Amino acid sequence: MQPINIGIIGFGTVGAGAVEILLNNKDIIRNRVGADVIIRRIADLDIQTDRGISLDKDLLTTDAMKVINDPDIHIVAELMGGTDKAKAYILAAIQNKKHVVTANKALLAEHGNELYQAAEAYQVSLGFEASVGGGIPVLRALREGLSANRIQSIMGILNGTSNYILTRMTQKGLAYDIAVQEAIDLGYAEDPPTLDVDGTDAAHKLAILISIAFGHPVPFGDIYRQGIDQLIPEDIAFAGEFGYCIKLLALSRDLGDRVEARVHPAMVPTDHIMANVNEAYNAIYMEGDFSGPTLYYGLGAGRKATGSAVVSDMIAIARQIRQGVNTLIPPLAHVRSPEPAVTIQPIDEVNTAYYFRFSAVDKPGVLSKISGILGEQGISIASVIQKGRKLLGSVPIVMLTHEAKGSHVNKALTQLNQLDVLTDKTMVIRVEGGEST
Ligand code: HSE
Repeated sequence: MQPINIGIIGFGTVGAGAVEILLNNKDIIRNRVGADVIIRRIADLDIQTDRGISLDKDLLTTDAMKVINDPDIHIVAELMGGTDKAKAYILAAIQNKKHVVTANKALLAEHGNELYQAAEAYQVSLGFEASVGGGIPVLRALREGLSANRIQSIMGILNGTSNYILTRMTQKGLAYDIAVQEAIDLGYAEDPPTLDVDGTDAAHKLAILISIAFGHPVPFGDIYRQGIDQLIPEDIAFAGEFGYCIKLLALSRDLGDRVEARVHPAMVPTDHIMANVNEAYNAIYMEGDFSGPTLYYGLGAGRKATGSAVVSDMIAIARQIRQGVNTLIPPLAHVRSPEPAVTIQPIDEVNTAYYFRFSAVDKPGVLSKISGILGEQGISIASVIQKGRKLLGSVPIVMLTHEAKGSHVNKALTQLNQLDVLTDKTMVIRVEGGEST
């Protein structure tokens, strides 16, 4: 059997991981595919830096078009990141009838439709397992293993960097900045890490999961996003006193005519399964109407884990080529239908329980003013902690509420922020996963 030739654009963290796997596991891969899977060319602007891989230097080029236009290359892996150039390269490769593998979640979440349509039009495969959950084969599980089900809900820890930061703040009491630097040093974070900590990266991944679950791209801008960058160590400590920990959750639920889709820090009971997903690990819980709950767990970031997902797509496509099949499963695992795109429920209409941390002056009547405003909006308080502990010159009052509607909470916050007894903006964190026991 003729070898299957791979061209790689982008020799950074993920590209180097994929190359390392293709070289180290070439015998296993040959056995699994039934043909050699060969690296034919690697393009990167930097072809001088030593990636710690022994490689024939003639494979390297600074010109991505040498990969895209090489008639012998069957599969092009776009691992450079970014959106504009990456999109142009992917479209050019598809138009040259090359199968494409990418890890580029931002590109897929924001411009996926154009790429999915192009892949279908040119009858090539577009693999993007590495775009969600690093080394966890979650897209394959969703596309294939759960294909008999209507997906009812998704709950994920989808960003390894923010999970690492929250874990270090929770377990070691580290300051936010120190934990961020550790995550960068370990190679988990995007550069800059803004998209990791502000919820955008997790929202990109959630958009991809929802698109496959429902068969339509979602309007990415409609996914509610709140990051972990406003949390202070005291929020983590208070959450612990209530029996919760704080995680950056990505959540979606099928509401029939609409879909809930949001990414934000959430308090989850310490005995909840998501509370025990730590460090750079990711976990994705998906519930099908017939499968019931299913859970996927593993390393969500890093050179080796993400490289594993990239190479798994290459192997899947190489197997197709070997069997003379062009495309096996469409990118979103649905035959295109005229149904309208998925509509996302506005965040104001979402009901959850809440944690509030008020910064208040310590004098009589403050608590009753706060609870009065909450009561007017029908927000019922479940528990309160007020300690004499001064935080930035004021006293923290921390409350957990029963379920309340987002719009009611926003109205209450507008009024609360006008109270002269409150000295700072109120911190609000949603509570998920039921009550702590
Ligand atoms: N920066 C991402 C994360 C990994 O921290 O999860 C790549 O998706």
